[in-house]
Amino acid sequence: MTGDYEIVDHTYDTVVVGGGGSGLRATFGMVEKGLKTACISKVFPTRSHTVAAQGGVSAALGNMGDDDWRWHAYDTIKGSDWLGDQDAIEYMCREAIPAIIELEHYGVPFSRTEEGRVYQRPFGGMTTHYGQGTAQRTCAAADRTGHAILHTLYQQAMKYQAEFFIEFFALDLIMDDAGNCRGVIALELATGRIHRFRAHVVVLATGGYGRAYFSCTSAHTCTGDGGGMVLRAGLPLQDMEFTQFHPTGVYGAGCLITEGVRGEGGYLTNSDGERFMERYAPNAKDLASRDVVSRSMTVEIREGRGVGPEADHIHLHLEHLGPEVINERLPGIAETARIFAGVDVTKQPIPVLPTVHYNMGGIPTNYKAEVVAPRDGDPDAVVPGLMAIGEAGCISVHGANRLGSNSLLDLIVFGRAAADQAAKLVAEAGSDHAPLPKGAGDKTLERLDGIRQANGSQRTSAIRDRMQRTMQDYVAVFRTAETLDQGDNKMQEIFQSFEDVHVTDRSLIWNSDLVETLELENLLANAVVSVASARNRTESRGAHAREDYGERDDEQWMKHTVCWLDESGNYTLDYRPVHMETLSDEMQTIPPKARVY
Ligand code: FUM
Repeated sequence: MTGDYEIVDHTYDTVVVGGGGSGLRATFGMVEKGLKTACISKVFPTRSHTVAAQGGVSAALGNMGDDDWRWHAYDTIKGSDWLGDQDAIEYMCREAIPAIIELEHYGVPFSRTEEGRVYQRPFGGMTTHYGQGTAQRTCAAADRTGHAILHTLYQQAMKYQAEFFIEFFALDLIMDDAGNCRGVIALELATGRIHRFRAHVVVLATGGYGRAYFSCTSAHTCTGDGGGMVLRAGLPLQDMEFTQFHPTGVYGAGCLITEGVRGEGGYLTNSDGERFMERYAPNAKDLASRDVVSRSMTVEIREGRGVGPEADHIHLHLEHLGPEVINERLPGIAETARIFAGVDVTKQPIPVLPTVHYNMGGIPTNYKAEVVAPRDGDPDAVVPGLMAIGEAGCISVHGANRLGSNSLLDLIVFGRAAADQAAKLVAEAGSDHAPLPKGAGDKTLERLDGIRQANGSQRTSAIRDRMQRTMQDYVAVFRTAETLDQGDNKMQEIFQSFEDVHVTDRSLIWNSDLVETLELENLLANAVVSVASARNRTESRGAHAREDYGERDDEQWMKHTVCWLDESGNYTLDYRPVHMETLSDEMQTIPPKARVY
């Protein structure tokens, strides 16, 4: 079938894959710098998952009290359970302040204080004076901050007349024999044509892989496409064992109820009506970091203090806040709770449960957003021509556990950093483009052919369902050697079962069966690497909570996991050091210590 394809070739300075917050910020930043840039997106940009972010974006603006970006960096390092790279964290927290002011100038409609400043609310793990007080650091546009930011970024991209390739599904990176990235190959969903994009720099901004799990706050489009492409290119993914469970997904539906609810004074109770977080985190209480709150809720349920007929969830209260605060600050979650839980939040608590929300792991990069992979004894060797940003990337600023509202920040700061670095790289490369390697894309088209012709006995949806339930059951909030061994075996078997997939529709045009199967292939690769990485890490750190290895073990495990995967599902694990050194004298390294809230 390979001969059937109509191939369209393009040449750009830079190609950004993904039109969410980080992809848009990188795209117009590059155009602004005079780079000929294409942005490829499988959905219309304003439908990207960034639109679902609710509570806000962090920056030590100090609009509501004392603040300092170093306190923000301290909180982020502690939140990361000392797995975050301190150079990247310094960069993000310092750059947060100009980045938010820039967003305001672009037109993001932030909520306001009485004095007209950007309104900031408390969020989990955000403190002042290195852990002493509570910081109000999360800049909010009511509870629709992601929506406000994404639409503003898209308007900026329009202003700069960025070139979009919308509803294009990226299939593979184009790599040369020396390991340089030379471009990307994509399927145009509306016509079935194949597009080969040649570029000096490809930036993966494809989002996370939350849909590897059964219950998640992620959009159906969060299928780890960038991670899948990277693994197929023979490159590793990093820290994939660290999956964040957000404490407050709506019970049964999985939709996000923002941490901003607890920031505004909401609290959790068990079946005794007890505010149990006071026992687990005496200082921060309901505003401890997400891994701590999710584990505490899980323990309450396991010990028989869950609410509801099955005693299998927890109550989140905001009735006491009153309709005025709810209407002004939290209108979106009032609507979500009404639609998905049948609850009037001014009168009743919301039934909630820890729900998969974010992948701390992803494509390893340095703080300039360049992809790195250990090579010839260099743990930080750059992969020329390839960058990754947003949830697809692992910079790593979130380490083992991300603090709420640091994700929108990551998108903005590193989307901008990618544009800055790409401008330097393109200037160095000059105007001539290296020719594409011989047969560029042939292997991809063979793979595509194989999937189009797949005539096995298992529906895509059946394999996906088994993967999602396996990840949910075996790679959960708490893990043991037993659950992880079983999860690893099961995921290997499910990965192999993809050989037996059945695709009903063979066409290339608007074929959702084909796209869902391509997405499943990416999800499977991410899931196998995730469980393998978790199985090997015999300690508890951040979101990776092992019941059989309850303590953090800095001597053995203060290092990033890197994991490669071959076509047959065999994985190879290695480790690279955490960057403890800071970028400048303005911030000192924060040495590891016990993590209490
Ligand atoms: O709870 C929230 O509003 C989510 C924010 C985040 O994940 O950063």
